[in-house]
Order: sequence, then structure tokens, then C-alpha cells
Amino acid sequence: MAVTLEKLIELLNMDLELEYSAAIQYINHAAVMTGAAYGDIIKELKIHANEEVQHAMILSGQIDYLGGSPSVDVGQIHTSKDNVQMLQQDLDGEEDAIKRYKIRIEQSEQLKEFALAQQLRNILAVEQEHAMDLRQALGK
Ligand SMILES: [Fe+2]
Ligand SMILES: [Fe+2]
Repeated sequence: MAVTLEKLIELLNMDLELEYSAAIQYINHAAVMTGAAYGDIIKELKIHANEEVQHAMILSGQIDYLGGSPSVDVGQIHTSKDNVQMLQQDLDGEEDAIKRYKIRIEQSEQLKEFALAQQLRNILAVEQEHAMDLRQALGK
């Protein structure tokens, strides 16, 4: 399925909005999560929050380079009073991101936007690490 540059910019803006929401969601979860058993993962969630902000910066720069207007909207944010449910919400977000970035890499390559594809590969590798941290914390 062929993608146009215009469509790719639109999809990258959706990815960008979801990076903003992921950052906010991690900040929220790290703040409200409680219990000594969760100390290690709380530290990880704070690191994830910063990495999602870095992803938002990379995507904003790439969207601008491609001639688009980087979105300043924020995607959906999920939270809970339950620690396990919050970790599951974070894992769901990461699994969604992994799926989206795999498709986005293919689309970038179709358009011969190889630098973008490389940046997306770097982001994908970080999202996979995030998913692994969350799976470990959830005992999966
Ligand atoms: Fe991210
Ligand atoms: Fe992530």
C-alpha cells in the first residue's frame, strides 16, 4: 500500500501526539504509584518519560524537515488508582507504539526518506526496551 508524503506527515503527527501523551502518562504514573515493591519500576517510568520527550523532539524536527507543521496536541492519556493497571496501560501504549513505528519505518523507506527511517528505528528500539521493562515489572 503506497503512502504519500502528505499522509506520512499526518501519521507522524499522530505519533507525535502519542509521544506527548506517553510522557505525561509516565510522569503521572511515576508520581501516583506507591509501594516499596514498585520502587525500581517507578525509577524506570521517570526515565521513560524523558525518553518519550526526546522522541517528541525527534518527530517534531523530522515533521518540520518534511515540510509539515508539528502538532502541539496531546493524545489520549490513561491512568488508574491501581499500580498493576497503570503498568498495563503503559505496556498497551508501548505495544501500540511498536506496531505503529514498524509500519512508519516501511512507509519512510517507500518514500526514500532514509534518515527518517533511521530515526524511527532508534525510537523503535527504545520502545521495545520500554515494553520489556514493563513486562518484567508485570511478571510477564
Ligand atoms: Fe516514545
Ligand atoms: Fe515508550
